[in-house]
Amino acid sequence: ADPDALQDFCVADLNASISINGFPCIPASKVSASDFFFDLSKEGITNTSNLNFNVTPANVLSFPAVNTLGISMNRVDYGPGGLNPPHSHPRATEMGLVVKGRILVGFVTTSNVYYSKVLTRGEIFVIPSGLVHFQKNVGKGKGIVFTSFNSHMPGVVILSTTLFGSQPPMPNEVLTQAFQVDDAVVNSIKSKFGS
Ligand code: GLV
Ligand code: MN
Repeated sequence: ADPDALQDFCVADLNASISINGFPCIPASKVSASDFFFDLSKEGITNTSNLNFNVTPANVLSFPAVNTLGISMNRVDYGPGGLNPPHSHPRATEMGLVVKGRILVGFVTTSNVYYSKVLTRGEIFVIPSGLVHFQKNVGKGKGIVFTSFNSHMPGVVILSTTLFGSQPPMPNEVLTQAFQVDDAVVNSIKSKFGS
């Protein structure tokens, strides 16, 4: 969760030359109505990877009006079988609304307990802050989920790319020992995540 705001709004100046905890505000005289509205009506293109899903963020970077307000959203589109792979948000709890599809939502607690359910249109879920979670469209058609966060920039740690796709790469001796597999397995996974 983000700190409380000290003013009504602070539309982000994304091009400011200074960097602070958040972004500086553009002058109130330059703020107009259009700053406070954002279009999430467009379907994301889901078939660009074999995960078959797409995230359209409405966070401080794409929607600067949420700067300092401690809130943001995503639109997540899924093709049939599409997967938003296991990931966590270091700075936010997530709540989601299923608008289309049959969406398997799962997360794992810090005690390693797995909770999951298949949701359909109109149902919502909550992912406690920082926990690893995923959504998979297990329906035959497309899926749409709108998610919301109590941070203007929740951040995302995607486990697969974090461990196997970092630049520079995480050493094999760390990954083979951590996962109890040999170099061939680690190299094979790394080759799929560009590291
Ligand atoms: C879904 O998990 C999302 O982060 O939007
Ligand atoms: Mn998430």
